[in-house]
Amino acid sequence: MCGITSYLGYRDAYPIVINGLQRLEYRGYDSAGIVLVDDEHNVNLYKTKGKVSDLKEIAEKNNTSGCMGLGHTRWATHGIPNNENSHPHTSNSGNLVIVHNGIIENYDTIKKELLTRGYTFKSDTDTEVLVNLIEEVKKQNNCKLGKAVQMALTNVVGAYAIAIFDVTKKDEIIVARLGSPIAIGIGEDNKEFFVASDASPFIEYTKDAVYLDDEELAIIKLGRDIRIRKINDDSVVETNVQELKLNLEQIEKGGYEHFMLKEIHEQPKAILDTYRGRLLADKGIIKMGSVDNNIAKFLNANRIIIVACGTSWHAGLVAEYLFEDLARIPVEVEYASEFRYRNPVINKNDIVIAISQSGETADTLAAIKLAKSKGAFVFGVCNVVGSSIARETHSGAYTHAGPEIGVASTKAFTTQITILTLIALKLGNLKGELSNSVFHHYLQELNLIPAKVENLLKINSEIENIAAIYKDAPNCLYLGRGYNFPVALEGALKLKEISYIHAEGYPAAEMKHGPIALIDEFMPVVVIATKKGHYDKVVSNIQEIKSRNGKIIAIVTKGDTTVKEIADHIIEIPETEEAFSPLLTTIPLQLLSYHIAVMRGCNVDQPRNLAKSVTVE
Ligand code: AGP
Repeated sequence: MCGITSYLGYRDAYPIVINGLQRLEYRGYDSAGIVLVDDEHNVNLYKTKGKVSDLKEIAEKNNTSGCMGLGHTRWATHGIPNNENSHPHTSNSGNLVIVHNGIIENYDTIKKELLTRGYTFKSDTDTEVLVNLIEEVKKQNNCKLGKAVQMALTNVVGAYAIAIFDVTKKDEIIVARLGSPIAIGIGEDNKEFFVASDASPFIEYTKDAVYLDDEELAIIKLGRDIRIRKINDDSVVETNVQELKLNLEQIEKGGYEHFMLKEIHEQPKAILDTYRGRLLADKGIIKMGSVDNNIAKFLNANRIIIVACGTSWHAGLVAEYLFEDLARIPVEVEYASEFRYRNPVINKNDIVIAISQSGETADTLAAIKLAKSKGAFVFGVCNVVGSSIARETHSGAYTHAGPEIGVASTKAFTTQITILTLIALKLGNLKGELSNSVFHHYLQELNLIPAKVENLLKINSEIENIAAIYKDAPNCLYLGRGYNFPVALEGALKLKEISYIHAEGYPAAEMKHGPIALIDEFMPVVVIATKKGHYDKVVSNIQEIKSRNGKIIAIVTKGDTTVKEIADHIIEIPETEEAFSPLLTTIPLQLLSYHIAVMRGCNVDQPRNLAKSVTVE
């Protein structure tokens, strides 16, 4: 959940490393640090509690020269956010400097051993223990840094992505990974190298990148090809250089005040890009190579088990309604963190679908490994190309949402639902659950969704007005039925994570079994009341709340006249099939939480205590 970045080459390292940290800040942002080594081997290390902007202020009052640098933006796990615990950390000799993303679980045992050997520690972090362990191994074995790192890591339990160098050697960096991502950018003729948690810090410098796999270590030396080794047996690994397809424009705000607002407005294009080459409505077909190549598995599946976390889990819940309704395949939706430790029963013909925007969420990755170890076919739905989950699953489909930088997931959610809708429709038709005419009608309707989202985004200012009324509400409830129950959960999560207002989502009928006790004139209740989704039942739920003075914000289908009479505020969405309505109903909920958070002065793109990808459990 931290961001690491590094540069080694002929350019000034400072601007590259500090800009890289700013691009990675969405990963974690409670403290930051940078170390630079100049031509005279002077080591300048600056680190501070707070944001990368605070670090810049400190560094730019001092010497920032040098063509070698390491940077880190932190999300605390071991040791509170403060100056001492922020990275980089140096070894007792001062020669080795390290940045680390992950958790060393057995750091305490190692620390105790090192203390007996006279090592001292300035911080409470597991990372400082690791750099001193590497120093001790290097000393004991009188070996090169690469070897010392490899040997030290065989004694480590936990997750890590590290970059480390010896300040006395200005042409070499060692990086290693287990569980946390590392990308290496290769400059022309190996004259410069970039290291980062993802490729965004170096896309304007090179399009050639290597993604390290788990249990791999790379020795990066100027003027020479990268050498990759397996950590457990030092065996040689072939270097697989990939061409990056990302561009700078994609990772900048494009004139919007926040990445979240930009990403909300990118959804029509993101859904269209996710359709591209897959939804051929005029031909009446859905083409998905990764599903077509495994179609027998899908058609003979006894059960689909979906594993995910957070917003991706909500997309999984929408998929449960899609697969059971359209393809009549039983589905179970599992929190990956619970699934991985529950010793779940997985049968031969079960399919596991793992959903993840970042492709790096530790609990989901572990759930995948568990499912594979029990013989299940695991299909991934991911947004980040080359991510760990994309490489760990047997097969999968990418959501083409483009980089999602705002911590609150928006376009990834709608594109995840888009992929899952395409798969459910395809299987439903192939299994004969959907007649060709119904199937073709659905494809035509799905084709209209991007334009309907585009149209819906025009109500942004209406939502802003409603937000202004409820921005100081202490609590909020979200209600939905059927396909829109998961959307209610997602709406509540969005409000919680960016405005810090306590909010809960519920199946509308559940109200009577407890939550209705919360209703009074101070409780805003967002209700999704689309025409085709158990409408009459939802209307009576709305009346139950109104009769207790609750404030109703209703999401209704355009032209609704009934709810209009009861609710305090109505937000109209275009009509569509109920199965596709989550792609529309979620938009006003994203905008509502966004505007409330902005009006409360919250950091919308980097909410407190959160990080974009949770790479530790
Ligand atoms: C959603 O807005 C949050 N950022 C969080 O719940 C997120 O969905 C969760 O951490 C899962 O992330 P993933 O999709 O990258 O696996």
